[in-house]
Amino acid sequence: MATMPAGAMQGRVALVTGSARGLGEAIARRFAAEGATVVVSDVREELGEAVATTIRDSGGRASFHALDVTSPDQWSAVVGACRDLGGPHVLVNNAFVTTLGGIEDETLEGWHRTLDVVLTGAFLGMNACVPAIREAGGGSIVSIGSIHGGAVADEGRVAYQAAKGGLSALTRAVAVAHGKDGIRANVILPGPMDTPIVAELGFVEQQRAFAASLPLGRQADPAEVASAALFLASDAASFATGAVLTVDGGFTAV
Ligand SMILES: NC(=O)c1ccc[n+]([C@@H]2O[C@H](COP(=O)([O-])OP(=O)(O)OC[C@H]3O[C@@H](n4cnc5c(N)ncnc54)[C@H](O)[C@@H]3O)[C@@H](O)[C@H]2O)c1
Repeated sequence: MATMPAGAMQGRVALVTGSARGLGEAIARRFAAEGATVVVSDVREELGEAVATTIRDSGGRASFHALDVTSPDQWSAVVGACRDLGGPHVLVNNAFVTTLGGIEDETLEGWHRTLDVVLTGAFLGMNACVPAIREAGGGSIVSIGSIHGGAVADEGRVAYQAAKGGLSALTRAVAVAHGKDGIRANVILPGPMDTPIVAELGFVEQQRAFAASLPLGRQADPAEVASAALFLASDAASFATGAVLTVDGGFTAV
């Protein structure tokens, strides 16, 4: 039976996009704590280097690689670095940006920017990583979706919601195509999380009020969502593929 031993990620090389801060950072730290060799990647180079350095300082294995997920050339380089480490075995599609417009005020530029990072970035990542994971002996892809776009809708952020809905569909298509290659692919739909982007967007009070209305009555610490990513990335989830896991404080249960 599948279990979750300490060191659940021993022997795995895990590439986490957008892991200089927020949820990606929490996933990188959690995977490293469970024995993975983590490739921290982001467009925020200083922060990303600092995450990798502190993981190494606490006895883990990590390196930072600059990766703009919209760049096929940068994907080639970072996947090459993962191959040099004996992987990749795990890819986490986490990087994101968002514009805020509703259907009448979103711009074409904003639409493309959000879709490029969230959806095309994940396409490029899986396109580059699937053959490499297969050659490494199989592994797991975890895509970070959102309850908004993945399970429910609201009136704003149309590009974000469309991109996240597409990311769920894309990830499940990869799951169907590559199960027999030993590659599992699953989606997490987080609810509200306390990460730096929330304050940057000026959403702190709005998000707190939303979180207070949830059955659990609060927003998530990113580490709580990282635990779900660890489960799906590890052998504890060895029969889970094409799954969509809500980690939303009960929001979609109401
Ligand atoms: N915070 C929430 O409440 C919440 C809720 C649901 C889902 N999510 C999802 O969680 C994930 C992480 O979000 P977060 O809240 O930690 O946000 P965040 O902004 O703190 O982290 C996102 C990271 O992505 C990086 N990034 C942006 N553009 C990039 C690019 N082109 N290439 C590579 N990296 C890039 C950023 O530099 C940043 O480090 C996202 O997929 C987001 O949609 C967040």
